[in-house]
Formats: sequence, structure tokens, C-alpha cells
Amino acid sequence: MQPRSPSVPGVGNPAGRSPVPPGMTTIGIIGAGNIGSQVARVAIGVGYDVVISNSRGPETLADLVAELGPKAKAATAEEAAAAGDFVVVTVPLKNYQEVPVEPLAGKVVIDTNNYYFERDGRIPALDRGLDTTSGMLQRHLVESFVAKGFNHIFAADITTDALPVGAEDRRALATASDFEEAAELVQRFYDELGFDTVNVGPLAESWRVERDQPAYVVRQTRSELVENLAKAQRPDPEQTVA
Ligand SMILES: NC(=O)c1ccc[n+]([C@@H]2O[C@H](COP(=O)([O-])OP(=O)(O)OC[C@H]3O[C@@H](n4cnc5c(N)ncnc54)[C@H](OP(=O)(O)O)[C@@H]3O)[C@@H](O)[C@H]2O)c1
Repeated sequence: MQPRSPSVPGVGNPAGRSPVPPGMTTIGIIGAGNIGSQVARVAIGVGYDVVISNSRGPETLADLVAELGPKAKAATAEEAAAAGDFVVVTVPLKNYQEVPVEPLAGKVVIDTNNYYFERDGRIPALDRGLDTTSGMLQRHLVESFVAKGFNHIFAADITTDALPVGAEDRRALATASDFEEAAELVQRFYDELGFDTVNVGPLAESWRVERDQPAYVVRQTRSELVENLAKAQRPDPEQTVA
């Protein structure tokens, strides 16, 4: 997969492995909280198998897996990473460097992260608008294909706002990636779950759908999302105190 716009220094194209294999049936999920459990529910609803993990170990996910049924399995983060044809990383940003690197090499990784300094601690490059959360994850997962996804929708809305293809007022969600095929995978997944897509471009543009921007956690159609993305404004690095 060729990087379409190498906005992240040092991110290359891991050779020889297809990131989007045909017949993908299993999603690895790292993080089993609000978003991880909800993505698991809706993915199973459209036919995927999921292997889901948290920080405390698979035994602590017994209730969730029982609720999700036979298409769900609890595992460690390493096992979920290895099992997924593609993988959703949905842990608090402060823990992103704990995400296993090797088993995610060559895979598309959907990153739901947002930066909340109250939870994650101050990250000066984000405060100053000089980096993005997904760019940070991409540099950690240097041989993976990171795409932003599900970061600007409340977890509960993933079920309540889903609509079939072509429905009037279908909600749109954004993605961004330095790899076109990774963004296309997110688009197909959104579509299966009930959402239109707006591709924001490379990860360097993903700040446009983050916290405090007009497109963040509001219900919007594709055209409304495009308008909101255009209204996004980044902090002036000279005016921010890190
Ligand atoms: N909540 C929303 O509606 C929403 C919407 C869009 C985006 N987001 C963003 O998505 C991310 C996740 O949010 P959330 O609300 O789902 O968080 P959450 O409910 O706090 O759940 C976080 C999950 O991550 C797991 N985790 C933490 N460190 C881990 C590690 N090193 N390895 C494996 N799993 C680990 C936790 O496991 P333990 O419980 O075992 O520690 C927990 O299952 C955040 O960046 C958030 O800002 C949230």
C-alpha cells in the first residue's frame, strides 16, 4: 500500500503483506469500554466475529462476551491484535504506547482516540496544534496502516443513528489515513454499519474531527460534515501555552 501523502515522517509501506485481505471476517478490538463494546455489538450484528480485549485480562470480560454471544471471544490485547483481519484500537490516549506493535504489523488499525488533557495529561504538541492523536499512534505502530474512525460519535449513537444505504439524512462519519486503502476499509465498514463517510485526507488533517471542532460528536449528514470540516480551526501555536 503506497502512502498517499506521507504526513507522518518515518511511516513507510511495509512490503509484501496485504493490509486488506479478501474475506475479512474477524475484527480484533483493543479496549472494551464504551466504544470497544459498542463496536463489537454492531460488528457482530452485521456478521463479523470479534476478539476483544482490555487491560485487566480476558477473564474480566466474561459478562460482556456472554452478552455478545458465540461470535465474540475475550483475549489479551496481543491475541486480539493477532486475530483481527483488521483491528480497532480504542483505549484512552494516555495508554496508546501500550498497544502491541508486532502483531499489528501490516494490518489496518482503526483508531478511535481523542485527546482529553483532563484524562490523558498535557501533551504539548497536541495543545499547540502541531500533531494529531492518530499521527502519534501511527508513529507507534510504524508498520501498520492507521485510519481514524468512530472518534466523533458517542458510543450509544453508533446503534441509534445507523441507517441503510441511501436513507435520507444518513449520518456521516469521518475517516483519515495516510493510506488510501485503509481509509477505504473504514468507509466499507461504516457503510456496513449504517453510516456515510467523509474522507478528511491524511492523518495530519484528522484534528478537524477532534474535540472542540464543529464536526465533533454532532449528528450530521455528509454535506453537513463537509461544511463543518471546512469551519475547523486549529489553535495558533504561538498563542497556546503548553
Ligand atoms: N465514549 C465515547 O462515546 C467515545 C466516543 C468517541 C471516541 N472515544 C474515544 O475512544 C477512546 C476509548 O473511549 P471509551 O469511552 O471507550 O473508553 P473507556 O470506556 O474508558 O474504555 C477504555 C478501554 O480501554 C482498555 N484499555 C486501557 N488500556 C489498555 C491496554 N493497554 N490494553 C488493552 N486495553 C486497554 C480498558 O480496559 P480496562 O478497563 O481493563 O482498564 C477499557 O476496556 C478514548 O480515546 C475516547 O476519547 C470515546
